[in-house]
Amino acid sequence: MTTAPADYAIVPSSHPRTTAQRTAALERLSFGVEFTDHMARATWTPEEGWQGHRVEAFAPLELSPAAAVLHYAQEIFEGLKAYRHADGSVWAFRPEANARRFAASARRLAMPELPEEDFLASISALVDTDLEWVPSTEGASLYLRPFMIATEPFLGVRPAQRYEYLVIASPVGPYFVNGFQPVSIWVAQDYHRAGPGGTGHAKFGGNYAASLLPQQRANAQGFDQVCFLDAATRTNLEELGGMNVFVVDEDGVVHTPALTGTILEGVTRSSILTLLTEEGLEVRERDIPLTWLLDGVRDGSVREVFACGTAAVITPIGRLAGESFDVTVGDGAAGPVTSRLFDRLTDIQFGRAQDPHDWMRRL
Ligand code: COI
Repeated sequence: MTTAPADYAIVPSSHPRTTAQRTAALERLSFGVEFTDHMARATWTPEEGWQGHRVEAFAPLELSPAAAVLHYAQEIFEGLKAYRHADGSVWAFRPEANARRFAASARRLAMPELPEEDFLASISALVDTDLEWVPSTEGASLYLRPFMIATEPFLGVRPAQRYEYLVIASPVGPYFVNGFQPVSIWVAQDYHRAGPGGTGHAKFGGNYAASLLPQQRANAQGFDQVCFLDAATRTNLEELGGMNVFVVDEDGVVHTPALTGTILEGVTRSSILTLLTEEGLEVRERDIPLTWLLDGVRDGSVREVFACGTAAVITPIGRLAGESFDVTVGDGAAGPVTSRLFDRLTDIQFGRAQDPHDWMRRL
């Protein structure tokens, strides 16, 4: 057994995939179906705090059927990516931001916080162990999924007394099968993702579970994604099933829903706000009524709409529909601001451009 930085002990898999198997897996990448040979983990108890930090073989978990996560959904997660640069080096994008959000999600779900340095060390140790799994093909990356679950076997409703933190890694291509192509959105008017005082700002599995039925209905009608309105007034855009949303108007002003506690504070969202400000564009974080958006799309004063997230990167939205409307944004193609932001962000992430904001961390 060797020891990685910050004491994640490495217990190598006794059955890693062969080079030929890994090469074959890396040749046909979609999103979230392939997993690397290892996972990182640590355990929390009230007596010992976080302990047992290690990287070990990716394998099924042993869990009591009474584990609290299976009954009351005490689970949080993160999503970030590692990118291979042209010189072969591997870099993570703003992992400290994910570490901070993970701690904030833990507080909301009454779970123990994982120290930022433990979070960062788990990423480094896992990527270092499975370095050959970081793709080098255009646009592909290694998606990292840190998560925490309540494992105490107990059926009373209170915060659990035992937790497992894990990180798994998945070599990925684009989230949407067609890559940087406009997607179509169904605006859910009867379902909401989160309400005031709820868990909307946390990266909590339950928020995503709540999005599944409306997402399924959107898919059944031929749409790629669902967009939610706020639960309090049922009038303002919030976010998609797992992505933030932006609107560009005819004056080049960029609008995005303000962080009201019901929306995820996306790392890509905040990076886009920085890039737009750097370009000198005006950004407005505010309420965005659906009626304002539809009027603007119809009269041409709204020029572009796009979604963003770690998985989705920046994805143009070409069509918006709901019970009583169906509109095409602009000519339905990706607009100039959306395309420029996609290039600017991915150039930094893949090391093709300078990183003026010090976002990249070498792993
Ligand atoms: C991410 O973008 O990392 C997410 O967690 C969203 C999910 C739809 C994959």
